[in-house]
Amino acid sequence: MKMTVIDGSVLSQCAEGDRNNGRQYEIMALVHRSNPPRYFTEMAIKTVSTTPFDDQKPGTSGLRKQVPTFQKPNYLENFVQATFDSLDDYQGKTLVLGGDGRYFNRPAIQIILRMAAANGVGKTLVGQGGILSTPAASCLIRKYDAFGGIVLSASHNPGGPEGDFGVKYNVSNGGPAPEKVTSAIFEHTKSISEYQITDTEDIDLDELGTKQVGEMTVEVVDSVADYAELMEQLFDFGKIRKLLEGNFSMCMDSMHAVTGPYAKAIFEQALGAKAGTVTNGEPLEDFGGGHPDPNLVYAHDLVKVMFAEDAPDFGAASDGDGDRNMILGNNFFVNPSDSLALIAANATLIPGYKDGLSGVARSMPTSQAADRVAKKLGIDCYETPTGWKFFGNLLDADKITICGEESFGTGSNHVREKDGLWAVLFWLNVLAERQQSVEEIVTEHWKEYGRNFYSRHDYEGVDSAKASELMDGVRSQLSSLPGQKLGDYTVEYADDFSYTDPIDGSVSEKQGIRIGFTDGSRMVFRLSGTGTQGATLRLYLESYEPDESKHNVDPQAALKPLIKLADETAKIKELTGRDEPTVIT
Ligand code: G1P
Ligand code: ZN
Repeated sequence: MKMTVIDGSVLSQCAEGDRNNGRQYEIMALVHRSNPPRYFTEMAIKTVSTTPFDDQKPGTSGLRKQVPTFQKPNYLENFVQATFDSLDDYQGKTLVLGGDGRYFNRPAIQIILRMAAANGVGKTLVGQGGILSTPAASCLIRKYDAFGGIVLSASHNPGGPEGDFGVKYNVSNGGPAPEKVTSAIFEHTKSISEYQITDTEDIDLDELGTKQVGEMTVEVVDSVADYAELMEQLFDFGKIRKLLEGNFSMCMDSMHAVTGPYAKAIFEQALGAKAGTVTNGEPLEDFGGGHPDPNLVYAHDLVKVMFAEDAPDFGAASDGDGDRNMILGNNFFVNPSDSLALIAANATLIPGYKDGLSGVARSMPTSQAADRVAKKLGIDCYETPTGWKFFGNLLDADKITICGEESFGTGSNHVREKDGLWAVLFWLNVLAERQQSVEEIVTEHWKEYGRNFYSRHDYEGVDSAKASELMDGVRSQLSSLPGQKLGDYTVEYADDFSYTDPIDGSVSEKQGIRIGFTDGSRMVFRLSGTGTQGATLRLYLESYEPDESKHNVDPQAALKPLIKLADETAKIKELTGRDEPTVIT
């Protein structure tokens, strides 16, 4: 075995003489005791033979599988090694590592630390207890010039021994790896034959400070501090504090997921909200058995509070890894597409955005409410495929300042991930400035811009073959649809969405089927790229109503004709065997 000596000629000589005679360990042990951080050896690195798994293609947001899959021997190791193998020029540099605290987070972190050390990473910043929210990981990558980060999360999917786990690689801008990187990782997973790992002990993840794994330095950092500091730079904490210390009441549901410690530090400690404002604030490995997705179905605890008679003024929830948000007023739900539009429309009220926006972007299925705001502001609005990774180039090139998705995700150029608590703080800052209720702010917005009625219907756990048949069925009608009358609607365009990135020219095809009508209504069909069991069909529905007197209508009622049309076009009930969607948002 080869011995690497960083410093110390005496040791080099000894090592030379003793090579391969079994005495190297002894010498190294001696040197380690006398001067631990300076002398290391590759002897502790093991090369382990492995064979490929055929299911390691990253989806919308990294590789997500059920925990037992990740626990298969070599499964995690293969994917992590494939990730390192697909990267250039990271030796000796800094990596950020952390996750949402779900089951398998800690053992996975220990494995990845040993592999990072064996693969030549110089330093790893890891969140205390292995905890980093996705936006906090993005913040750390940017702030400390890391070459990238590994985020362990399956976002809003349930956790626990039988729940989901996930691994996502983020690049140096702090954002999810673009497709060319995830494709390279996938290629490596197909041909992997060995991986590198150090033969070292687990490190203590709970104690802050610097430690050593082989030749790599590990710094266990406070999970919250850097992120909280960034929030303080963007928002008027003084004004929000005044609001929260007054009569204003708020409830923040962290859903037993990663934002608990962040929300307590920011809302209850820094901003003076009453103790207990943050509920379900203890991150649990199985999220308390819940489904940490902040929508009207899964955030039922919060919904119960916010739709009660004596409801607080403001309610919010975030997801497993802290990048999603749901905003509620007293007995009032803010649709995420509207939230994006409102954030854009009110941005100049916020210190971090007072100079205005360079542009905005939304994912294709997200409602066109943001487009109307952009038009009024005289800025561009980009339409990207689903998934945060498509916003990265636009943010880096300063084509956009704010972006969002219908799936309860909003964010800005402050990091390169969507950011749940950022959205909550944005709303609080707007409420503090405008001194109106959530409902008043939203209904005034509709009055000014018209209302985009919007809903998403999810059919989860559908047979994959049937789901493909459904999509193929709609696809086969695309060329003949334009100009056709369907019910009261006339089809203006029908296509399989394809996106050409305006910065690097890369093309992403088959990103969802859109059928648009002459009155601006749309229906979109897509299969989820984040599910782990069977297929999830997502049906997105949108119609536009300029007339203020017709705004106070339940979206499901307003969208009824479109819902019927979607079923007729795609044979949803027949092919899924379901009468109703699993989740309606
Ligand atoms: C879903 C959402 C998408 C979001 C992603 C990661 O992906 O629809 O907007 O970016 O989760 O949070 P999907 O399952 O639809 O592929
Ligand atoms: Zn998430």
